[in-house]
Amino acid sequence: MKTKHILILIISTFTILAISCKKEGNETKISKYKKKKSHNSGQNCMNCHNVGGSGEGVFKIAGTIYNEGFTATLPNTTVKLYTAPNGGGSLVATVKVDGLGNFYTTEKVDFGDGLYPAVIGNQTTKYMNSSVQSGACYSCHNSITGKIWAK
Ligand code: HEC
Ligand code: HEC
Repeated sequence: MKTKHILILIISTFTILAISCKKEGNETKISKYKKKKSHNSGQNCMNCHNVGGSGEGVFKIAGTIYNEGFTATLPNTTVKLYTAPNGGGSLVATVKVDGLGNFYTTEKVDFGDGLYPAVIGNQTTKYMNSSVQSGACYSCHNSITGKIWAK
């Protein structure tokens, strides 16, 4: 009987720990080249991958890269965030675009006075001229203002 009670106690403690971790969104999720664990390309990842959201992990930077002409996503490319325009200043974050063309990270990012995104494609690097305070790229790069693309 006693061992059974201890067992139940241990199991319930771990369950509570697991649940509270999930609520705080403590999971680490970082995109890697060639991996295909993500989904929902072209949607606003942060609609769900936010604090209290249904998505696994709270994303600090996330989005989707397309090819020229937007006929498909552009997998295995790279997103970088710099403190100055055109790849200047210091490199603050590097996020690999996965095998589905999506990129995401739960790692903390210090946006400071703003960071300048760059997308390194297979042939060219494209720089955003203005800075961002958030890594929710979709919030601006949606169907109305234009998706992010590279060659
Ligand atoms: C409509 C809500 C929603 C949107 C939008 C969404 N996700 Fe998710 N995501 C989820 C849910 C729910 C899970 C957990 C269950 C599952 O894996 O489907 C999840 C899980 C994941 C996982 C973990 C898979 C694993 O096995 O480790 C990754 C990675 C991910 N999403 C990436 C993304 C990316 C990148 C985007 C944007 C391009 C995105 N998600 C958009 C809801 C969403
Ligand atoms: C606050 C709105 C906003 C956010 C957030 C945003 N962008 Fe932009 N982005 C723009 C606007 C507006 C332009 C065009 C003017 C410019 O370059 O500043 C642009 C341009 C770009 C370009 C250059 C496009 C071209 O055709 O040369 C790239 C690449 C880019 N953004 C990547 C990103 C990435 C990656 C993220 C997420 C880390 C992001 N952007 C977040 C508004 C935004």
